[in-house]
Amino acid sequence: MKPIPRVLVTRPIPPTILAAFDGRADVIVRQGPEPPTRDELLQSLPAFDAVITMLTDPLDAAVLRAASLCGGRLRVLSQIAVGLDNVDVAGARACGITVCNTPGVLTDATADLCFALLLATCRRLPAARRQIVEGRWSTWELEGLCGLELRGARLGLLGYGRIGRAVAVRARAFGMEVLACNRSPWATDGDPAHARACGLAELLDGADVLSVHVPLLADTRHLVDEGVLRRLRRGAYLINTARGPIVDEAAVVRALDDGHLAGAGLDVFEDEPRIHPGLFRDEVVLTPHIGSATLVTRHRMATAAVEGVLRWIGQASG
Ligand code: DGY
Repeated sequence: MKPIPRVLVTRPIPPTILAAFDGRADVIVRQGPEPPTRDELLQSLPAFDAVITMLTDPLDAAVLRAASLCGGRLRVLSQIAVGLDNVDVAGARACGITVCNTPGVLTDATADLCFALLLATCRRLPAARRQIVEGRWSTWELEGLCGLELRGARLGLLGYGRIGRAVAVRARAFGMEVLACNRSPWATDGDPAHARACGLAELLDGADVLSVHVPLLADTRHLVDEGVLRRLRRGAYLINTARGPIVDEAAVVRALDDGHLAGAGLDVFEDEPRIHPGLFRDEVVLTPHIGSATLVTRHRMATAAVEGVLRWIGQASG
């Protein structure tokens, strides 16, 4: 009889979700909210057949090789996230490790947060709140705290996958015009948001608000750099709910300093949880990587990650 697979879960997830293993695996849940260190993974991972990971776990090629080829037994890595930029996916495949993630289940929650940032940034909520809290609100002023009128404004989506499209649908409901730039073309006749497909230059020339929806890959690191920001019209806004390193944070601060950018709504950062101090200002709405943070979505993500391991167990035992 084959030995029962051993599964490591690198952070606690609800027991009701883990119950799906139903005796089909020996499941060890690592305690505490902090990510495991690289050294810890080098030590512990080789003893497991499967691991359920989070986006802050350092899963580079050497860790994966030690966990599989060099005496380890790891065969499946199932990440509770759609983004896999913390995992050397090619390295994992080279070691015979199946990699799963959780696309689809977090689309609406992330698009909602993106739109919340867009609204809060373009309607200047931090500055408005501060005026009240600091006792500086004395009267109604015709041109006080005016922001961007969304109806008729143009949203430029850099990347038009699931989340970009869900943001586009929300933008259309607010009367925005939507432009989108994507690496591969899409069927415009089946697109409920009727986004106008365009190249990067046209997107930047046209956008009042630029929102980032590409994955973090070697060629998207600092895709939004000084040149891209300066090509936007003066007074444009930037929203990022994808991955921090896609945007050059220092360039964003410079563009805010000289007023080229009117504001930014950022859920992700270049070196999380550290944030460039120049972003602590009223024109910037900051959230700590909470795009998918509704309980319903987070539970769906954890369930999908467990299902990824169960699929592998089914195949391995079948
Ligand atoms: C993901 O799934 O990649 C998100 O960043 C988590 O919210």
